[in-house]
Amino acid sequence: MARAVSARLVFLADDYAGYEVRGLLGQHGLSVCIEVVDSDGAVHKILFDTGQYADGVAHNARLLGVDLREVKAVVLSHNHYDHTGGLLGVLKAIEHRVPVIAHPDVFKPSIYIRGNNIRLNIGVPYTRRELEEAGANFIVVRSPMEVAPGVYFLGEIDRVHPELAPALKGNYTLSSDGELVQHELRDDTGVAIAIEGLGTVAIGGCSHSGIVNIAEQAARVTGMNVFAVMGGFHLVSASRETISRVVEELKKMGVEEVHTGHCTGLVAEYAFLEAFGDRFRKIHSGYTVELKKR
Ligand SMILES: [Fe+2]
Ligand SMILES: [Fe+2]
Repeated sequence: MARAVSARLVFLADDYAGYEVRGLLGQHGLSVCIEVVDSDGAVHKILFDTGQYADGVAHNARLLGVDLREVKAVVLSHNHYDHTGGLLGVLKAIEHRVPVIAHPDVFKPSIYIRGNNIRLNIGVPYTRRELEEAGANFIVVRSPMEVAPGVYFLGEIDRVHPELAPALKGNYTLSSDGELVQHELRDDTGVAIAIEGLGTVAIGGCSHSGIVNIAEQAARVTGMNVFAVMGGFHLVSASRETISRVVEELKKMGVEEVHTGHCTGLVAEYAFLEAFGDRFRKIHSGYTVELKKR
């Protein structure tokens, strides 16, 4: 099982613009550039999610000195537009053909209907063909796979705690005989980075499968304890009991740091702040974190 010697994460899109670098753009969406250094000193860049529009991602990348042309693979957390809407423009900015790794359900119809709020497509806003023409070499896979030394696409998440998987109410798909059914978002997954001498960093996009389930799968895939969880945890409409359970389960697993933003929600962020103190960090556009052996 390969491990990275160190990793550097640069968040290119988040709902909050932050203030450390002037001119960064916020958007409802997530995109993070993961750079790992392998045991030979080589650097590998992977892009996890692409935000909802590429202009914001490319603008922030320029300001932050991230050259998208160096990206060797794109990983998609799930189908939702706030993670895949930037994909077409990002592929153009990468300027070469690139593997795009996702769960096979990523192209299932994803329809939002709730009261008067009807949006016919909240999934990938492009056809697979358009994306392939723009440079995507899709690898749609249900099982975990290594995408760079020590960086793992987690595949379909085993929802060991189904009650901690916050599916999106009102999100439907079509069954094989054309019936409107609840979208279970089985495509929702994450990435694990196994770092020598530190442990695993588990990253979710929206974490509809549950950040606890994602973190547990990350530990199984890497064979190393989870040191930190990161990304959007979609606890924005979760009850206080659910939020407490998430905190408790992460503590039980020995998670030391929580870096979160996007759709996590203020109440959950406050709970993480109380539980993790200065080892809680609020993600924003431009948020950068370096990880290596302690
Ligand atoms: Fe999201
Ligand atoms: Fe989502």
